[in-house]
Amino acid sequence: MCGIVGYIGSQAAAPVIVEGLARLEYRGYDSAGVAVMNAGGIKVTKRAGRVKDLQAALPKRLAARIGIGHTRWATHGGATDANAHPHQDASGRVGVVHNGIIDNATALRDRLMSDGVEFASETDTEVLAHLIGRSPASTLEGAVLDALTRVHGTYGLAVMHADYPDRIVVARQGSPLIIGVGDKEMYVASDIAALVRYTRQLVHLDDGDLATVTSTGFRTFTSDDDDTGRTAATVNVTVEDIDDHGHEHFMLKEMLEQPTAAERVLRGRLDERFGTAHLGGLNLDARQTRAIRRVKILGCGSAYYVGELGAGLIEELARVPADAEAASEFRYRNPVIEPDTLYVAVSQSGETVDTLLAVQEIKRKGGRVIGLVNVVGSAIARECSGGIYVHAGPEVSVASTKALTTMSIAFVLLALYLGRVRDLSVRDGRRIIAGLKRLPDQIQEVLAMSDELKEHGEALSKADSLFFIGRVRGFPVAREGAQKFKEISYRHAEAYQASELKHGPLALISPAVPTVAIVPHDELMDRNVGALHEIAARSGPLLVITTADVDLGQPVGGRVDVPRSEPELDPILLTIAVQLLAYHAAVALGRDIDKPRNLAKSVTVE
Ligand code: F6R
Repeated sequence: MCGIVGYIGSQAAAPVIVEGLARLEYRGYDSAGVAVMNAGGIKVTKRAGRVKDLQAALPKRLAARIGIGHTRWATHGGATDANAHPHQDASGRVGVVHNGIIDNATALRDRLMSDGVEFASETDTEVLAHLIGRSPASTLEGAVLDALTRVHGTYGLAVMHADYPDRIVVARQGSPLIIGVGDKEMYVASDIAALVRYTRQLVHLDDGDLATVTSTGFRTFTSDDDDTGRTAATVNVTVEDIDDHGHEHFMLKEMLEQPTAAERVLRGRLDERFGTAHLGGLNLDARQTRAIRRVKILGCGSAYYVGELGAGLIEELARVPADAEAASEFRYRNPVIEPDTLYVAVSQSGETVDTLLAVQEIKRKGGRVIGLVNVVGSAIARECSGGIYVHAGPEVSVASTKALTTMSIAFVLLALYLGRVRDLSVRDGRRIIAGLKRLPDQIQEVLAMSDELKEHGEALSKADSLFFIGRVRGFPVAREGAQKFKEISYRHAEAYQASELKHGPLALISPAVPTVAIVPHDELMDRNVGALHEIAARSGPLLVITTADVDLGQPVGGRVDVPRSEPELDPILLTIAVQLLAYHAAVALGRDIDKPRNLAKSVTVE
């Protein structure tokens, strides 16, 4: 989704900004632009298309040492040069880049137009540029505040003004923004990836924060001009972490990183003596943990499906009622918040606006929320009272893989911990721990099956439409398989509970509609095999993802056997197989694997 980069210091600003924008490409965008400022005023260059198109359009000699840039994902108005950011006011002395959405933009625009203001774009952001330019305030900070008091909506905002050539003013409300601290140079960005090449000293702004950034420092403050005193912290991310290391795609690189990511999420968290997990970050003591009567998990997209897996694990191991819900629905339905429910927000980016707003809704009603989050210091992580960082490392590919795997493992740890505070036996706890310790090697074994899965993926890529089916533990795997498949191959893929087939979708089974069936070795195995035969009897092509000791009764088409783990952990290994399947299908179709059409890495607008 949209990205912001800003620079102020002693170097030429444009190349620094363009490099930062290129690092944000993975988030998804359809146009890009840069504004630089010197004694002569502000010069804007912007283009629909890729960052390299912008780079080609930039004047060769741009010595200005202050500038802002943006990658835009169209919301208000199409992906055109005119709608690309930065936007300016009528005088051309103000430059603005903005992530988020101004909800009352239409009303403000009408009012400005009736005052004679002419608009150069269809965007909500241009409204902000005009409001700032028309403010009578005697400082840039005052003008930005004036404008912000008139808008409703979300923003990560960076503003330059030719009358104040020594500063960039930024503001954050519902859309991430960080300041990077250098040596007599400062940076602004919406995402760490834009800055890691330059600095690891970062300041995270909170909602409601504004900041003045000059080449030598920064000041954070509220809309009442009270200092918020944010300070810089060192982040543990390097350029290496966000490099593709010669892999054809980031998605492939990130899938291959799963064994090490699995080791990281487990490190220091296994207590073999008591058969439990060390999860100090939850900030829950044993009494508070015992008092939990229900667990409600919230996330979006694949994070929601991992939440379904987590809910199943918690019910199974801790015998606490648990369920998962799409955060995007939950936040809109005036949910009942119970004091003895533990709410769990799941998010790779920690920025997904629907999940963040769900967390805020729960907190507003007095509920306790913990987070399962990848990005350290992200908005959701900071909003929660505790949680588990999954330590997957930076994830660049839009399609999430290693972060989801580490989230699944984190849910096993949470379920183990909750279980051992209740009735899960130490023996079962140790059994799960032994399984967890084997997991990184077993993930490696599934990754080594890539060629086999490639053959199946290529065959499946030829179908316009396919089913993924599973039951209970296998169903979240089927959902994730269908999600990955449609996301990156653009084929229609639908997940169904195997148990529900005969209640409707069986009507669609035909030689043209293949089914990928997830069949773990568990107590539902025979029932699953029954469903396979129903499909085979209707000439539906089948690929079964299972383990070697599952007897399918009769040949049912293709099968892929992943290593067997503990029943609670099998879904994690089965998921690695469906990731590879979707990846190879999408490669066979020549899709843009890391940046699938219409999708963004973190969905920070509504
Ligand atoms: C799928 C995918 C998305 C995300 C979802 C939530 O591959 O990446 O469905 O899982 O947008 O994102 P986070 O986890 O950042 O909250």
